[in-house]
Amino acid sequence: MLLPMPALPGIFLVLDGIDGCGKSTQARRLASHLQRLGRTVLATREPGGTVLGERVRALLLDRDLGDTAPMAEVFLYQASRAQLVEEVIRPALARGEVVVCDRWHYATTAYQGAYEGVGRRASEEALRASSALATGGTEPDRAILIDMPPDDADVRVGDSRDRLEVRGGAYRRRVAERFRSLFAEDPEQRRVVSGEGTKDAVETRVWEAVRDLFD
Ligand SMILES: Nc1ncnc2c1ncn2[C@@H]1O[C@H](COP(=O)(O)OP(=O)(O)OP(=O)(O)O)[C@@H](O)[C@H]1O
Ligand SMILES: [Mg+2]
Repeated sequence: MLLPMPALPGIFLVLDGIDGCGKSTQARRLASHLQRLGRTVLATREPGGTVLGERVRALLLDRDLGDTAPMAEVFLYQASRAQLVEEVIRPALARGEVVVCDRWHYATTAYQGAYEGVGRRASEEALRASSALATGGTEPDRAILIDMPPDDADVRVGDSRDRLEVRGGAYRRRVAERFRSLFAEDPEQRRVVSGEGTKDAVETRVWEAVRDLFD
């Protein structure tokens, strides 16, 4: 079903974690640090990163969207992801660049798998299989989970919430737990750093978790 993909010379890094944990802040800092080291960096995010992806993102964040069929929502994320892989990530890796991506398929498995209620949630198998189809097997060289207590991360999100950020505390705690168990599946490729403390402290932890790839 999937075509084999050739290995590419670039380095693919991902930051993921619950809302407000500091992904975007740390993605910017990591990209700047790598640029100061002389690397060419392509920073992107999902959903988004392409014209198609940004339109899908706007749709997903729209509070008027209401209840979505579980697989309809999953396919929107996967459509954005497939476009990003094809149009942005693989070409940059082929040019030998460092790609820093804010979120990856871990988020789909964590968030879309944490809904409660029969008929509200896509199966774990469907989530993983759809991600594999969307990425075509393109996986990060290193993924970083920025882990912190969901209630503390929620304070950072503040008052202006989009459709996805209005979901409750119990849901956020299930998502955080799912992220942790996903990252425990492959401790070499997937590293967990604490998102607590200052932005500088977290930046140091993130760098320590990827620096061996740049020796
Ligand atoms: N270590 C930190 N200490 C205090 N505030 C922080 C820290 N890291 C990030 N913030 C602040 O918390 C808010 C959320 O951070 P950021 O946007 O980086 O998180 P995010 O994980 O990208 O969130 P989202 O999932 O909503 O995109 C921002 O206002 C940011 O400046
Ligand atoms: Mg962000």
